[in-house]
Amino acid sequence: MRTTFLRTVACLAMFGSAITAHAQAYPTKTITMIVPFAAGGPTDTVARLVAQSMGNKLKQQIIIENVGGAGGTIGAARVAKSAPDGYTLFLHHIGQSTAPGLYRKLTYNAIDSFEPIGLITDVPMTLVARKDFPAKDFKEMLAYIKANKAKVTYANAGLGSASHLCGMLFMTAIGTDLTTVPYKGTGPAMNDLLGGQVDFMCDQTTNTTSQIKSGKIKVYGVTTKARLASMPDVPTLNEAGLPGFEVAVWHGLYAPKGTPKPIVDTLAGALQTALKDPVVKQRFADLGTEPVADSRARPEALRAHLKSEIDRWGPIITKAGVYAD
Ligand code: MLT
Repeated sequence: MRTTFLRTVACLAMFGSAITAHAQAYPTKTITMIVPFAAGGPTDTVARLVAQSMGNKLKQQIIIENVGGAGGTIGAARVAKSAPDGYTLFLHHIGQSTAPGLYRKLTYNAIDSFEPIGLITDVPMTLVARKDFPAKDFKEMLAYIKANKAKVTYANAGLGSASHLCGMLFMTAIGTDLTTVPYKGTGPAMNDLLGGQVDFMCDQTTNTTSQIKSGKIKVYGVTTKARLASMPDVPTLNEAGLPGFEVAVWHGLYAPKGTPKPIVDTLAGALQTALKDPVVKQRFADLGTEPVADSRARPEALRAHLKSEIDRWGPIITKAGVYAD
């Protein structure tokens, strides 16, 4: 009896050290980071910068797979069903917290189906229009919209995307509905804005800054409390005439639920290193944003933030009466 007991203890010890050795060896192959929007958009841009730097730290390549559609919920559903082995990661934004209120039939749970790794960045948004939109400032833009109403088209990345949320708040604030044109991401939406096929968009500075600076699109306001250092001449929407209008798009990194804690901790460490990488910091600054502080690039910080954002957005969405079956 005693021999059997000792053998069992020895086996458990060996099994335990095998798991530890496995976690210590991680990663031994390429990691896939799923982005729930099309390539070339703002979430994709953040993901590619972070993946490159994390990959350098982990000495393994992290490739991006774009799984766009339905405001990010198709990509999220894919990750929720993936093996929790550290080789599938998920970079999503504020949409992870709005989806539970907006989608009545999600096949995953925004909190319970994922292991949070850490927050990444908070990106300001900009209200932008095609280059030849007939308004030189916010006041003229508003007058044009009021006169033309649903003839004006507004691009977004689907229900629950950041561009959808910003547009919803904008239309509510001005009391006018525009015609919404959904895309799989604001990367392709930007192509149509540049081509003049769509009139308007509210999108993250990570997607709009270079197009604004090169004069390829017009900007009417930023969604932050204060003006941005990267575009100091552009008024806040608050200043322009929409009191209290404020939106920033936070991004987080996740793994599927059940990913072992040592792997999650390794990934959080790599994320923290990436966010201090001078290349990442400079690129973020060029795009009008910055990495979060070290204390927020952690699993517990993302877990708490996600929960509080779900609590914040739920009532706003219910009040707006917007949802998908
Ligand atoms: C959004 O509106 O949620 C994003 O811009 C989507 C994207 O990254 O394409």
